[in-house]
Amino acid sequence: MILHKHFLADGAIIRHEKIGANDVYLLDIDIFTNAESFAAGQFVQLQVPDGEILLRRPLSIADVSGSRIVLIYRLIGKGTERLARAAVGSKVSILGPLGTGFGLECKRPLLVGGGLGIAPLLLLAKRFAGQADILMGCKNAAQMDWPLPLFKNVVKNTFITTDDGSMGMRGFTAEHLPKILAENSYDKVFVCGPEIMMKTVAKITAGHKIACEVSLEKRMACGLGACLSCTIETRQGRKKVCKDGPVFNSTEVFFDE
Ligand SMILES: Cc1cc2nc3c(=O)[nH]c(=O)nc-3n(C[C@H](O)[C@H](O)[C@H](O)COP(=O)(O)OP(=O)(O)OC[C@H]3O[C@@H](n4cnc5c(N)ncnc54)[C@H](O)[C@@H]3O)c2cc1C
Ligand code: FES
Repeated sequence: MILHKHFLADGAIIRHEKIGANDVYLLDIDIFTNAESFAAGQFVQLQVPDGEILLRRPLSIADVSGSRIVLIYRLIGKGTERLARAAVGSKVSILGPLGTGFGLECKRPLLVGGGLGIAPLLLLAKRFAGQADILMGCKNAAQMDWPLPLFKNVVKNTFITTDDGSMGMRGFTAEHLPKILAENSYDKVFVCGPEIMMKTVAKITAGHKIACEVSLEKRMACGLGACLSCTIETRQGRKKVCKDGPVFNSTEVFFDE
């Protein structure tokens, strides 16, 4: 478990653009604090710069460089729609880094991402310095437009699945995992994506006796462990996703099946 001191900064937006046809945006922010030690899997609470939306929105740290952090988000509701209007050069209040990061102790990592869950795996792939493989899945080839270029030079091998078979292997990501595990000697799997996908991957890795970490997503308010809105049941009792997670051992959180 990796924890860092929090900062609260009025970050300056350096780059803000649509990177995916399916309403996916990249936000590059200077937070005027060294971000190099932030852990893959940690997130920030971003204040939508609009004045009307009070609750901060949690977004994973997708990349860091010096005092800059990159967030990748999909337009989903009022907050992200208003965030998408924020101009380069304007300020955005950021609280972070929050939560726990992925544990890097392993020799042969496989990253498994689905949809926007692929975003935090970018920093994780960089932490493994080109030694990780990635299995990533989206609905169709069009939705692969943003992750493909980002991961091109940061992983060893890339396995792609699309639900409709328009790119890579047809079907859900988890369907192809058993074969990939059988043909490689991974000792740890890192998963971020829809809950059903993470649950299935957790079950498969448990069957193969391979360590697995998952990054959970729950609706959050404070992001600091104070309001209890993100509480979940685990094998060790109740935990808060924002503070005890979002990264957990899969066996700790998926144990009811
Ligand atoms: C730890 C964590 C990391 C995340 N990382 C990313 C990321 O890297 N990229 C990305 O696109 N999305 C990420 N999300 C989801 C992101 O927080 C929501 O998509 C965003 O808050 C939606 O805001 P909105 O106002 O546009 O949507 P709303 O109109 O408020 O709601 C739309 C839906 O978004 C979800 N949501 C809304 N507010 C929250 C909240 N405060 N916490 C959790 N879920 C919420 C709910 O399921 C809701 O039904 C992450 C969530 C968590 C908890
Ligand atoms: S969001 Fe408040 S305790 Fe987790």
